[in-house]
Amino acid sequence: MALLRLLLLGLLPFLCLAITIPDPSWPPRTGLRSRPSSGDVDSDGGRHIRAKLQSRKVNNVTGGTVSTYATSQISGRSPREPLARYGAGIVYMLELDIGTPGQTVSAILDTGSYTLLVDPDCKQAADPQACQTYGYYDTAQSSTAKNLNGWFSGQFGTGYMEGQWYSDTAYVGLDNLPLPGLRVGVSKFSQYIWAGVLGVAYGKAWNTAYQTLLDLLVAQGYIAVPIFSLGVGYQGGGSPSDIIFGGVDRKKFRGYLEPLEIYPYPDQQLKRYSQVGYRVNLTSLAVTPPGQNETKLTDSDFERNVLIDSGSTYTYLDAQMVAVIAQALNAFQDENGVYRVPCESRNLDGSVNFGFNFYNIVIRVNYADFIVDFDNWCALGVQPTDSKDESWVLGTSFIRAAYLVFDQQSDAVWIAQYLPCGDDGITDLTKDAGRQLWLEVTGLC
Ligand SMILES: *[C@@H]1O[C@H](CO)[C@@H](O)[C@H](O)[C@H]1NC(C)=O
Ligand SMILES: *[C@@H]1O[C@H](CO)[C@@H](O)[C@H](O)[C@H]1NC(C)=O
Ligand SMILES: *[C@@H]1O[C@H](CO)[C@@H](O)[C@H](O)[C@H]1NC(C)=O
Repeated sequence: MALLRLLLLGLLPFLCLAITIPDPSWPPRTGLRSRPSSGDVDSDGGRHIRAKLQSRKVNNVTGGTVSTYATSQISGRSPREPLARYGAGIVYMLELDIGTPGQTVSAILDTGSYTLLVDPDCKQAADPQACQTYGYYDTAQSSTAKNLNGWFSGQFGTGYMEGQWYSDTAYVGLDNLPLPGLRVGVSKFSQYIWAGVLGVAYGKAWNTAYQTLLDLLVAQGYIAVPIFSLGVGYQGGGSPSDIIFGGVDRKKFRGYLEPLEIYPYPDQQLKRYSQVGYRVNLTSLAVTPPGQNETKLTDSDFERNVLIDSGSTYTYLDAQMVAVIAQALNAFQDENGVYRVPCESRNLDGSVNFGFNFYNIVIRVNYADFIVDFDNWCALGVQPTDSKDESWVLGTSFIRAAYLVFDQQSDAVWIAQYLPCGDDGITDLTKDAGRQLWLEVTGLC
């Protein structure tokens, strides 16, 4: 399933855009691999906020029919529509307290959207029971809730939500730091969506006129720069799952982080998609079936733009490529067009390999993480989308294998193979984060 990226359409009436010009000299162009030897990491001026993530799944094959309500607002058909009808997904959720006194709400951490929306209408949810368990924010019970007298509506890759804007104090992270004035979209009606969504893509600099959670963390001095690191961990637990705002956990990877430039550049994305997301170029794709050599699926000059979307259960590529991967994994399409795989295949020693910056880095996703496990059935981690390049998505079936640093200061996503080796490796990022990430913040595993 996938909750997913908030298309701007419904939000347009409430947005005006403040545009900043990114520094064109950073990050360095790809291919510059010589780094001077690094000194000690200096952490002056930097702080971080750490929050735990919980992996959650909905597995309701029978329910979740999406009606055509409000589709007149949607331009073009969502490539994820077949899965919406299917009603199953795995996401990573973060707990927030909202209001005074704090009311605990869980929201899906979504790098594919950029604002906080809570309390879907559980009657219309893909999984009404799951929906009930994620907490409720009642504005009438909060002495600090402020009605902003505006309405929002948002179309996700799967699902729809509309409601009213409020602002209130939220408490985030393990230390429950108060964040006054956070914009909260409180749903009055939704379809399919079964939990709140915390969007962490670009905020005030590009997509919004107001400060988003990440913007506020910087504005209020909790962190020095609009950067966060994400390690969702292996499927089925056994490794920590967390997000660190303003810092990097060096005990989640080995060696240098590889910078992937946000592309198209934010100003071009705004023109083309009316919003700015974590889009980067994928430069190779291959599969290594168990006991076999790697089969390359792309030519050496392959370059394809993809959206890194933690709100999407699946990775979405074009149908031919998916068919080849499906064949390697003995996957078959069910009556809904969804590729399924025998769950035992998760135990096989194979991988799907995603390359960036022309083989500077290849992230190997083991079958155990790539095959999505819904307990009594399993889906292939990649599903087909149509051929428009803007619809290619790297979802959590990819993200589980990576440690990712989303960097709105340098307009880059820094990446390494996820490899956990401890819990005490956090380095705070300072205003000089670009240099830190390039030279100093190496993995300790
Ligand atoms: C699955 O969805 C249907 C329809 O939305 C709902 O009636 C049913 O209770 C759900 N089943 C579970 C196990 O949540
Ligand atoms: C893998 O490639 C090597 C070198 O090309 C070859 O010798 C070997 O037989 C191949 N292994 C398999 C299982 O195909
Ligand atoms: C991404 O790919 C496109 C198409 O091949 C290319 O024009 C562009 O320069 C690439 N961008 C980056 C940052 O590598």
